[in-house]
Amino acid sequence: MCGIVGYIGKREAWPILIKGLERLEYRGYDSAGIALMESGAFSVYKKKGRVAELSKFVKNNKLSGGVGIAHTRWATHGVPSDRNAHPHVSNSGDIVIVHNGIIENYLAIKKILINKGYKFKSDTDTEVLANLIEDIKKNTKVSVEEAVRLALAEVTGAYAILVLSKDEPGTMVVAKVGSPAVIGVGKNEFFIASDATPIVEHTKKVVYLEDGEMATIETKKDKLTLKIKTILSKKTKSPYIQTLKTKMEELEKGGFPHFMLKEIFEQPESLRNTIRGRIILEKGNVKFGGLEKFSKELQNLKHLVITGMGTARFTGLIGEYAFEELSGIPTKVEYGSEFTYRKSADAQHTGLIAISQSGETADTLNAIKKAKQDKMLTLGIVNVIGSSIARIVDAGIYNHVGPETAVASTKASTSQAVLLVMLAVYLGRMRGLSKKSGEEILKEIQKLPELVEEVLKNAKSIQKIAEKYKKSPNFFFLGRKYCAGAAMEGALKLKECSYIHAEGCNAAELKHGPISLIDKNFPTLVIAPADSMYEKNKTHIEEIKARGGKVIALVSSGNPEMKEIADDVIYIPKTLEMLTPILAFIPMQLLAYYISVERGNDVDKPRNLAKSVTVE
Ligand code: F6R
Repeated sequence: MCGIVGYIGKREAWPILIKGLERLEYRGYDSAGIALMESGAFSVYKKKGRVAELSKFVKNNKLSGGVGIAHTRWATHGVPSDRNAHPHVSNSGDIVIVHNGIIENYLAIKKILINKGYKFKSDTDTEVLANLIEDIKKNTKVSVEEAVRLALAEVTGAYAILVLSKDEPGTMVVAKVGSPAVIGVGKNEFFIASDATPIVEHTKKVVYLEDGEMATIETKKDKLTLKIKTILSKKTKSPYIQTLKTKMEELEKGGFPHFMLKEIFEQPESLRNTIRGRIILEKGNVKFGGLEKFSKELQNLKHLVITGMGTARFTGLIGEYAFEELSGIPTKVEYGSEFTYRKSADAQHTGLIAISQSGETADTLNAIKKAKQDKMLTLGIVNVIGSSIARIVDAGIYNHVGPETAVASTKASTSQAVLLVMLAVYLGRMRGLSKKSGEEILKEIQKLPELVEEVLKNAKSIQKIAEKYKKSPNFFFLGRKYCAGAAMEGALKLKECSYIHAEGCNAAELKHGPISLIDKNFPTLVIAPADSMYEKNKTHIEEIKARGGKVIALVSSGNPEMKEIADDVIYIPKTLEMLTPILAFIPMQLLAYYISVERGNDVDKPRNLAKSVTVE
């Protein structure tokens, strides 16, 4: 995720662009940059670090121009650095571009351009696109608008881009597929941004560009005009101008009252971003670019240890089952904090998989350092690009879910779980898992974003359940096998946001002690999907009911009997047993969210917590 802003009009562009970037910093803030056009020449400045630093530079150096584009970056291709920061300039200096998204086939295009003599200064996919536009423009002698269109017809992936050309100083081209772009329509001036927050203070009139559309803003006889067309068919359409009614704070949260709810609802998209470009169905396999160099070491592994803290460790418990089932590699899950102080057995045949959203958790970082001392192969599943864990591990997989702002992890956790299953397929395919089995699992993974969308449609009914249980002083969350870890995650979500005491455990463990806590005021959420553990889970539910306890049952759609047994029932779509916890996460996140809001808590920043725990 990155933020882009553009301005074209009569005013000085930089104050508008810098303020816009500040508003978009929630989308990423590892580097920032600006390009301003003045009398047919560009001044481009970009730097690793926050927008504040960029702002200081622009003010001190009195940059000027009435046309400009700017970017705040959240690295995907290439580490955060000055040279990877946007805007990117094409070889001849004609094209300047900012981009939010991922060009999937950039390497193939880069090779062709290198063969034609193009040189690259950065590791980014965006610089490739800048040069592709230049190459087309130069060779076909078309306008910048048409060159952008032809270039985009050749790329796959997701993007929102802003493009300027030195040859056409009064023109700005905008295009979008998969990433957002909004155009603000002022009085003979236009504002473009990733969301409406940089725009509302200038104009309430906006045009939301649709996927597959491009817009060109041109100066004709001192008047600016906006035209919109589809990228592939060139079909023009008149801009649909809407009037924004939303307040500023609501806009930052995309219309949601809290970041946590926004991030819960982002999960269909964040899962798409996690999976994108990594599934090769025809091979029944997965492609993880970062692991390719280590395929021999991965083949030699005899044991796996998954490590992480909090939510990250709970998603690891899902991975534990998946690794054993699909790859046959004995796997254990260990707190980062404890792994650091344990003796490693057979270290040279053991791989450590460290999971961390922030990539900065001290306990997990220490576990990796210890594994490296013991000469283990270390792998990371990390969301924040260029973070300490991402840099220290031998090889890694990024989540690609964009910044997670709410303290309680939601979209990172579902992404971690799906990546673990994908990694299990990858390791399994090295060890005899059939192509057909790989293909079956991957097909189900591809359906996950839609299934999550279905679960989210039940938000209202979960809100009603939250209302009913909001005063409970205690809560149990139970599950078996793949869903045991999910139960622990459900309990963590509830306790950290609502301050209700909640315990998550393996449902079978209940009658070995914890069941003595059950009474009519102690509700239990049981994850009981239609899987190999369903009958056992049904028995656990009966046992709780027999002791007067209240049960919320989380079951698969089409379950005919649970509404007769449980007090409340939440349905999730059917999927493979190993993917079910991912769907089960969502209603539990919603339950925790709604109960916490009902209790008047600051859900995005629960008391005593921090988003990343960088102390031991
Ligand atoms: C809970 C939560 C924490 C984190 C834990 C590890 O909602 O967010 O339990 O999962 O602090 O953080 P990362 O993943 O950044 O290492």
